[in-house]
Amino acid sequence: MTVMPADLSGIDVRAEIERLRKERNAVILAHYYQRPELQDLADFVGDSLELSRKAAETDADVIAFCGVKFMAETAKILSPNKIVVLPDLEAGCSLEDSCPPEKFKAFREAHPDHIALTYINCSTEVKALSDIIVTSSSAETILQQIPADQKIIFGPDRHLGGYLSRKFGREMLLWPGVCIVHEAFSETELLKLKAQHPTAPIAAHPECPPHIVDHADYVGSTSGILQYAKTTDADTLIVATEPHIIHQMQLAIPNKTFIGAPGADGNCNCNICPYMALNTLEKLYIALRDLEPRIEIDEQLRLDAKKSLDRMLDMASGTVGKGDLGTR
Ligand code: 13P
Ligand code: SF4
Repeated sequence: MTVMPADLSGIDVRAEIERLRKERNAVILAHYYQRPELQDLADFVGDSLELSRKAAETDADVIAFCGVKFMAETAKILSPNKIVVLPDLEAGCSLEDSCPPEKFKAFREAHPDHIALTYINCSTEVKALSDIIVTSSSAETILQQIPADQKIIFGPDRHLGGYLSRKFGREMLLWPGVCIVHEAFSETELLKLKAQHPTAPIAAHPECPPHIVDHADYVGSTSGILQYAKTTDADTLIVATEPHIIHQMQLAIPNKTFIGAPGADGNCNCNICPYMALNTLEKLYIALRDLEPRIEIDEQLRLDAKKSLDRMLDMASGTVGKGDLGTR
């Protein structure tokens, strides 16, 4: 259950977070889509693969995960002896919601000659029903290690699956899930923006639909897009992913201009992830103070889900920070 912030007036929340972080021997991990104030006080900010690795390696007693639930669950699967807290347990994901485990199980059973290559944005139950997990930064490397004649189910993101399928000429059975955030970018508005900034390249996350990705100069994970922002010669970049990542770009390259790709009303604010936005400084403070809301996973389920995650970590070795999916 989500712990609601009580009256915190008179409490210096930032100072309390600093105190509790030391007292609890806690590490604060944050995804690039988190509010800037959470990114700023995190011990580590990264993409889904990097955060999984940090969670697996940390010697902290507590992992305070500023991200969404499937990410905090991944941390618990990989670090079962740590206390893992998520500031708001309602921080879900439309991709996870699109893929109920019982329906995924039935789909798998209907295609027994296929392996399930599954995006990390799914429930622990779906991970346990999968053969190999991928993130957007590891999907390409992992797919290339699977024999060409092996049939594949890819879920739950049909856009990431479709992108990989087109890029590698590899047919895959796609689960029909989408990210509501990346789905909301408007091609018409993007082209208007491009006309205003003709020399600005477009960097897009592969969760975007094809009508957005097809206009992109670079397609990759959040860490890949950040890397592209640092290395491109262009002084202005159009960013087609959740706009909170622009905070890291501005910190790393303050002399460049970053413009969030627009949604249908021409306003990029509609592309803020409503789930990621549930986490706040106040809720992080309460999570560190109370060690709640806490992630708990049935041990057999955890062991079943860990197999597909371990395969990802083995097969993805060396992919972090390399620009992953790369320029189209
Ligand atoms: P990455 O940070 O791995 O690119 O994932 C993006 C995302 O949508 C996480 O929810
Ligand atoms: Fe899920 Fe999309 Fe939000 Fe990522 S940005 S957590 S994929 S809804």
